Amino acid sequence: MTFFRPKDPTANMTDPMKRHSGTKRASRLLLWKLRLRAAAAALGAVAFGSAYFFVRQAFKDGVWRFDFYLFNKSLAAASLFLIALSMLLTSVHFLSRRPRRTLAYRKHLGLAGFWTGAAHGLASHFFLPEKFPLFSWMAGHPAEAGLGLAALALFGGMAVLSLSSVKGKLGGERWRRLLRWAGYAALVLAAVHAGALKWTSWTKYFRTFSSVLPSFSLPVVLFAAATLILRLTVLVFGRRRKARTPS
Ligand code: HEM
Repeated sequence: MTFFRPKDPTANMTDPMKRHSGTKRASRLLLWKLRLRAAAAALGAVAFGSAYFFVRQAFKDGVWRFDFYLFNKSLAAASLFLIALSMLLTSVHFLSRRPRRTLAYRKHLGLAGFWTGAAHGLASHFFLPEKFPLFSWMAGHPAEAGLGLAALALFGGMAVLSLSSVKGKLGGERWRRLLRWAGYAALVLAAVHAGALKWTSWTKYFRTFSSVLPSFSLPVVLFAAATLILRLTVLVFGRRRKARTPS
């Protein structure tokens, strides 16, 4: 019996031009795989957040309804979660010392978090103007609005920095340091933005437990804080280990 085996397009490529285009195609395929998986993670996070807010509202108010207001909350929580998750991958890589595969997802999860955060900012003021009228909400909550906008601007800057042409111009070490500190700052700003807006809801939950479930922002902000603490610990240990390694 003979089996038909599809040929590997890059196998036995003696022509360097053909080999180059084969490698290029393979890396483009890998890039799309990473992008699609990051988009799937974003969709999953938004879907989970939506289900959580829906059930919480039913417990809290006895209302079984899903609307854009709840969807916007899940965009906000998913954005913070994805950005914290992308930072967590660096620490996981350091602790497990596994191949650099996990690190490949870091940039794409961060970008997915940025776009979800941008959608949340836009949705809050342009699709929910009766809840958050742009100018009067900003005038009434200058610190919260400023924190959210600053976090979004920093994540946007990081998205530009992640372009390989920018990396080439800045040089590896400076580029890495810039991305790292911009990431920490932006995560802190976003978590404080959420905390400032939801503090009353969180404290009410612990006083009364009347809503059964806390706002989803509470576990997500705690996750972001734990990620940040772990990342800083790993950074300090990494530096110590480097200093001890003989060159
Ligand atoms: C990447 C940047 C951002 C992240 C990660 C983020 C995250 C969050 C989180 C987690 C919440 C709490 C959601 C809830 O449980 O109700 C929230 C609330 C809110 N954010 Fe943001 N945010 C960001 C940027 C912005 C921007 C740029 C604006 C607009 C200036 C904005 C406006 C709001 C508003 C109006 C709320 C209150 C929503 C509600 O109570 O339903 N956010 N944000």
